[in-house]
Formats: sequence, structure tokens, C-alpha cells
Amino acid sequence: MNVSRISIVGLGKLGLCIATVLAHRGYKVIGVDIDDKKVEEINKGRSPIYEPKLDRLLRMNRKRLRAVTDYGEAISNTGVTFVVVPTPSDPDGSFSSKYVVEAMSEIGKVLSTKRNYHLVALNSTVMPGSMDTIVRPTLEEYSGRRTGKNLGLCYNPEFIALGDVINGLLRPDFVLIGESDERAGNLLSSIYKKVCTNNPPIERTNFINAEIAKIAINSFITMKITFANTLAEICERVPKANVDEVTRILGKDSRIGPRYLRGGLGYGGPCFPRDNIAFVRFAESIGGQAELAMTTHRVNTVQPERIVRMIEEVTKSNNKKIGILGLSYKPNTPVIDESQSLHLAMELRRKGYEVHVYDPLALENAKNVLKDSVVYERSKEECVRNCDIIVIATPWTEFKTINGKGKVIVDCWRILDKNSVAKGSVTYIPLGVNEADR
Ligand SMILES: NC(=O)c1ccc[n+]([C@@H]2O[C@H](COP(=O)([O-])OP(=O)(O)OC[C@H]3O[C@@H](n4cnc5c(N)ncnc54)[C@H](O)[C@@H]3O)[C@@H](O)[C@H]2O)c1
Repeated sequence: MNVSRISIVGLGKLGLCIATVLAHRGYKVIGVDIDDKKVEEINKGRSPIYEPKLDRLLRMNRKRLRAVTDYGEAISNTGVTFVVVPTPSDPDGSFSSKYVVEAMSEIGKVLSTKRNYHLVALNSTVMPGSMDTIVRPTLEEYSGRRTGKNLGLCYNPEFIALGDVINGLLRPDFVLIGESDERAGNLLSSIYKKVCTNNPPIERTNFINAEIAKIAINSFITMKITFANTLAEICERVPKANVDEVTRILGKDSRIGPRYLRGGLGYGGPCFPRDNIAFVRFAESIGGQAELAMTTHRVNTVQPERIVRMIEEVTKSNNKKIGILGLSYKPNTPVIDESQSLHLAMELRRKGYEVHVYDPLALENAKNVLKDSVVYERSKEECVRNCDIIVIATPWTEFKTINGKGKVIVDCWRILDKNSVAKGSVTYIPLGVNEADR
């Protein structure tokens, strides 16, 4: 077994970051992806995706990381394999294991020709129960091996946030390992002990507990975010109330904690919305109910309508031009999956408003969805200049300062530096703050 050499199957937003961080911490890494263009870019030392710090780290560690399209080359030259392929949501909201099965069968075929012990760790998010009913049987069938003998299998989901993935991998709150047997768990733990710089707790358990914990954590966080958004809506209606004051106090209670408690627009992205829905589907599949999660989803879905109602109250007609600043689901990423800003743009268009949009990184991605229904601006300045009402929808740092003289500014995250606008020159509407306290 060669544990100083690791292969990564799937070099996407998460997989490439894992591969790069492993190389950075001294492992020899071979990445496999079915996308040959991606493989070519990576081998030139360039990242095909945007993630802060990734490009520099990839260049720095080129000698220890190479990418291939051939499973044989990657699996036969390594002793450990991480699998990070997509698990897209099916129409009913549960995750598809299609690509995981493809990857496990390819890995299994190579393992059937090898003799040494091999560890396979699955990082993709799967439905609870999948490890025992789908993943393990596929790997065992194609490899001709049994887990616990010369094959180890772990479920090793990640809790990273896009825009901060490198940091999240190097310094996680904790590492979660669902293991087929002790040897597999020991080996994966030893890798994390070498890779993480903060000596995090390593939580080891069986497959099913790790699978439930993964989606339960994300479902819980969506509930926390939604609670803060509900507080924002309440504070707006109560004289002198301010959601930031209220959540700051809530966060002091150690039973609650301050993170993900900032009233604003709803949550989005490639994980939170679908993990929460998958949690609901999982509960239903075993004859249970996850009503809190379902309600969270419903409340989150109507957040853009709340902003539209605010705009309607100030404009009284729909012949005003609305500028949306920020299209990515959060700052520092071009990712627009389930972005609340996009839903807001679509809702405003439905109401007949002319919508202009600007984002530092996500404009190209947004064009694939919004097509020619909106006007794409080249800078925040142009967007502000050409519109009557400005909505700061994603809290990018550059939106803290805006020359919005004579405009209405709806600040969903209360980030505007009030010193940068002359007092009285704008109509300022921060979410979650009562008019008497603005
Ligand atoms: N992105 C995140 O923030 C995040 C966080 C936690 C968990 N996850 C989970 O990680 C998994 C991957 O997510 P992602 O965002 O990195 O996806 P992604 O779509 O960005 O990347 C997936 C990569 O896998 C490749 N691929 C697909 N099928 C393959 C196969 N059979 N063999 C080899 N490569 C193959 C694709 O070409 C692509 O490069 C998903 O299950 C997701 O839920 C993602």
C-alpha cells in the first residue's frame, strides 16, 4: 500500500481543491476527470474554476499534482482514492448516485487487477443508506474484494463553504468519517492529521450516522439562517428595532452561537437548498416527517417576493429601473446555483420592471439563466448611474461604497458605508431595520 500517493476522482469545485491541498501538504496526487479540457488546464498549472487561493496553490504544487483521464493510471499508482463526483438532485429532491456508481465501478475494475490494500473515501454527498446499499456493493462487485480485508471504504463528507474552500480544508471545525472498519478509519484519520493545520477533532462512526449527520447539519444551518431572516422581517415592523442588535445578542448564547445568524436575503448555493430538501425526502422515505425543514424551505423561497413588495411600496409603479448589485449566491465566487439575487431579478421582471444587473464574477454564469431579460452592466458605477432603485443583493466588499446620490438603495445586508454617501442624498432602506432607526 502506498499512502503517500493519493488519487482524486472528480476535479470540480470541491475535488480540485482537495487535490491541491493534499499536494500542498506533501502528498503525490493524481487526479482523474472525464473532462479532458479540465485535465489539460490543470496540467498547465491553471485552475479551470475560480476559488480564492486555488490558482496560486496549484501553481506552487505543480510537481506533486497531475491530472489524467485514465482511471487505470491513477488507481494503480496510488493507495488511497477520494471520490468527489457530482450527485445531482433528482426531480423528487433526493440525490442521484449515478456518477458515484460509475466512479466506483471504474475504481473497482482497476482494483481487481491489483493486489495491495486500497482505501476508497467518498466525499460526494449521498442519500443516507447509500453507502451500504449502493456504494459498498458496487465497489465489492467490480473489485472482487470485501471491505475489511484488502479494501477499506469511508464516507467522508466535507462541510466547506465556496469562497473559503482552501481555508476550510486546512482548518476545518471537525472531520467526519463513516468507516467500513477500523483500519480504513485509522488510515483516513492519519491523512487528515497530516493535512489539517489546526488539529481538528476527528469524528468516527458508522456509515449511516455519518450520512444522516451530513445532511442534518446543513438542514439545521438553513433553519438558523431562516430564523434570522424572520427576525429581520419582524424588526422592520417594530419601532426602533434593529435585527443586527437582536442577532448579536442571540449569538452570545452558547446554545445558539453567532454564525449564520445575519438577517438578510435567503440562502442559496449548490448545497444548502438541496441538502435541506434531501433531508425532507429522506425523512419521508422512512415514513417520517421533517416539517421544520419543509417550512424552512418554504420561507426561504418567498424572500425575493419580500424585497419586491418593499420596492413596490416605494415606487408605486413599475416604470422605474431597478439595479441589482450581486448575482452570485455569496461573495467571492462566480457560482449562481439557487442564488436569491437571480430569483429576485426574475420576480422583478415578472412584475414588469426594467432590471439591470452587475456582479464582479458571476455575470457570465448569470447570462446562461437570465438570457436577454435583463441589462448587463460592466461596473457597479454604471449599474447605479443607469437605475433609480439599487438593491445590494450579495454582500461583495466593493458594494460597501456606492455613489448613489438621488437614488433609493435597498441594502439587504446592511453593508453600505453610510459615510460614503452624503446624508439625506439617498433614500436608504436597510433590511431588518425599522424606519425610525435608519
Ligand atoms: N461545491 C461544494 O461547495 C460542495 C460542498 C460539500 C459537498 N459537495 C459535494 O461534492 C460533490 C461534488 O461537488 P462539486 O461542487 O465539486 O461538483 P462539480 O460539478 O464542480 O465537479 C464534479 C467533477 O466531477 C467530474 N466527473 C463527473 N463524473 C465523473 C466520473 N465518472 N469520473 C471522473 N470524474 C467525473 C466532472 O467532470 C467535474 O469536474 C457533490 O456531491 C456535492 O454535493 C460540494
